[in-house]
Amino acid sequence: MRKALVAGNWKMNGSKVQAESLVSELLAGYQAGAAELILCPPVIYLAELQQQLAGSGMQLGGQNCNEHEQGAYTGEISAAMLMEFGCQYVILGHSERRALYNESDELIAERFLHARQQGLTPILCVGETLEQREAGTTLEVIFQQLDAILSRDIQGFADAVVAYEPVWAIGTGRTASPEQAQEVHQAIRARVAEADSQHAEQLSIIYGGSVNAANAAELFVMADIDGGLVGGASLKAQDFLSIYRAACGS
Ligand code: PGA
Repeated sequence: MRKALVAGNWKMNGSKVQAESLVSELLAGYQAGAAELILCPPVIYLAELQQQLAGSGMQLGGQNCNEHEQGAYTGEISAAMLMEFGCQYVILGHSERRALYNESDELIAERFLHARQQGLTPILCVGETLEQREAGTTLEVIFQQLDAILSRDIQGFADAVVAYEPVWAIGTGRTASPEQAQEVHQAIRARVAEADSQHAEQLSIIYGGSVNAANAAELFVMADIDGGLVGGASLKAQDFLSIYRAACGS
């Protein structure tokens, strides 16, 4: 059985006070189910969340990490630092990192391999832009993003998570239909299976892009959709909890 999970990507939102009250509300309504619930706050709030979440069963993740162990990399955070503050996961290759900070497939592969080596589970984001979808190159783009890692180390996919996030669906309120998402998820699993069928079967592939309390269940019921990576709706406790419950039922 592969793991179902829902991760909340807070991005650069909120404040200390808002983070505290969001977590309090989540804790009050959270009942552990079959899926894993992961919060990915801005790193500066990790210490506080680590204390608040202790013993709750909820997990923590970073939104990015550097490919080096340590050194003169001003502004960066290492995988080991994330782990010191209770993170088990790290989002890598988010489309905002790729587009706004020029993170290349090669850099993301370095980060993925380093994070794995340090003991973090990467949530590797892949996805096409609207232009690429309309040009019919969706799978080509996604395979290129995957192959940057697959070609270097298939072991990296043991227990990793892939998030399919069509760029045109992120923060736009426009979601991929369950069928559109399933088609890509299935193709991702098939691509990984070409390298290792057992890893492919174990691989959790989650969907991201305007997931909300109303559309989560119809997405998560699809055969190859193992949960969600949630931006906007993860900042609203009740919505995020509904999304989590939808993943537990799938
Ligand atoms: P969204 O963001 O749910 O606000 O579309 C998803 C993401 O960027 O991971």
